[in-house]
Amino acid sequence: MKLPLNKDINILVVEDNIGDYVLISDYLNEGFENPHIQQAKTYAQTFDIVKKTPKGFDVILLDLSLPDAEGESLITKVMSFCENIPVIILTGNNDLKFALKALNLGVTDYLIKNDISAVALFKSIVFSIERKEIGQQLHKSKKEYQDLYSLSPLPIFIYDVNTLKFLDVNKATEVHYGYTKQEFLEMTLVDIRPKKDIKILTNAIESLKNEHKKYTKRTVRHKKKNGEFMQVQIHGFTIEYQNKLAETIIINDITKQKKYEDEILEVNTKLRNLTAHLQRVREEERITISREIHDELGQQLTGIKLDVSWLKNKLETVYPEANDRTSRLIESINKTINDVRKISTNLRPGVLDDLGLEAAIEWKTTQFEDQTGIKCTLTIHCDIVDYGEEINTAIYRIYQEALTNIARHSNATEVKITLETKDNKLIFEVIDNGRGITEVEKKNTISLGLTGMKERAIMLNGDFFIENLNGSGTKLKVLVPLDN
Ligand SMILES: Nc1ncnc2c1ncn2[C@@H]1O[C@H](COP(=O)(O)OP(=O)(O)OP(=O)(O)O)[C@@H](O)[C@H]1O
Ligand SMILES: [Mg+2]
Repeated sequence: MKLPLNKDINILVVEDNIGDYVLISDYLNEGFENPHIQQAKTYAQTFDIVKKTPKGFDVILLDLSLPDAEGESLITKVMSFCENIPVIILTGNNDLKFALKALNLGVTDYLIKNDISAVALFKSIVFSIERKEIGQQLHKSKKEYQDLYSLSPLPIFIYDVNTLKFLDVNKATEVHYGYTKQEFLEMTLVDIRPKKDIKILTNAIESLKNEHKKYTKRTVRHKKKNGEFMQVQIHGFTIEYQNKLAETIIINDITKQKKYEDEILEVNTKLRNLTAHLQRVREEERITISREIHDELGQQLTGIKLDVSWLKNKLETVYPEANDRTSRLIESINKTINDVRKISTNLRPGVLDDLGLEAAIEWKTTQFEDQTGIKCTLTIHCDIVDYGEEINTAIYRIYQEALTNIARHSNATEVKITLETKDNKLIFEVIDNGRGITEVEKKNTISLGLTGMKERAIMLNGDFFIENLNGSGTKLKVLVPLDN
């Protein structure tokens, strides 16, 4: 039998007895092809040879009684500078207890000189080399995991699921929470939770145990040693640790993030309220201006028209040359009256306030059809007569913007509009058959039409959606709750 190794094997035989050394060498030559064998007769020599052999040895065969050292102390000394080399004990001492002790000290095998043969020695050497290799790999990966845990910038700790006692914490946990590792090891999970949250903690632990959860993710509050509260997101993995059911917890402190989020939400709410306020003010102004134009200017113009008509009648007989002029004047007054009405209606259609949303939508639809030539189909299924001014204005303004967008961007030839009430909701849909809005256009932050529509819906606690109908048009949908 020859060793299936790719390289020549280097063996150090630590043996002071010449007879034993010769026998061992014979066995080695029998088992291996060209083994490089060196002999050390004392512990001192062993130390010297190992230190001076940079390539190292593949294995050391160690007799336990040398002139300058023996037994357990010899093993300990040799192991201290031969960490990476498999060491096999070759001894005459057939003591099982001592053999086990030797294995505990790190030797890879314990052979009795009288029992060995070339084959036994060969096997022991091959297995020892392999075992050492595997052991070293295991040790390396254990160290890598250990480093990952202890050097992680995120706090990581392990606690006993049954007693809630901390079993281990990494450096980042000590730094973040302000307790030392020693302090942690005398504490339980309860100590880092606010008193009010203890019930939440016990419930979470119960469900962890009952549902045999392997992985959990939750956001909770933790307390530092200085009494400060933190909002933390925790990822937990159940493991077996020191023969106990334990959970490894990775902590992500989101206190600052949460604070920023809250601040952004607050600013958003303020901006939203401001927008709503400004829109209301603008709408009220429009109503006033529209009424004033309609009533004041309209009536004055009607008065002027009556006076001019009276003048025309009077002048017709006494000064017929003025006839043409007065007719043109009346025509011009009529046109101005029409223009004034249009301006007033565009500012705020009177029909919205006088006859309500449905009538205003009907009127706007007809006006849009006349102006653009785009065919409109309007369907109304409503069991409510008056939605109140807020809803009336919001839906009307959304519709106005939707139609402007269709005329400006869609290339549509047809529009279907539906206004209906269902499940205590007002549902308003505008569907065109144009090119369809794109995802990029939907997210356009420069133009404000879509943003304005959405904001108006949100102001009513409603929802706003706009979507591309797979290239065959655009669908806009507004849902508004009607209970308040
Ligand atoms: N019905 C539609 N069909 C196709 N594209 C549309 C439609 N409605 C909107 N868009 C696209 O979405 C974009 C955003 O619309 P939005 O109303 O917000 O802005 P705008 O109309 O360009 O400008 P404004 O701020 O004056 O309204 C438009 O520029 C257009 O490209
Ligand atoms: Mg627009």
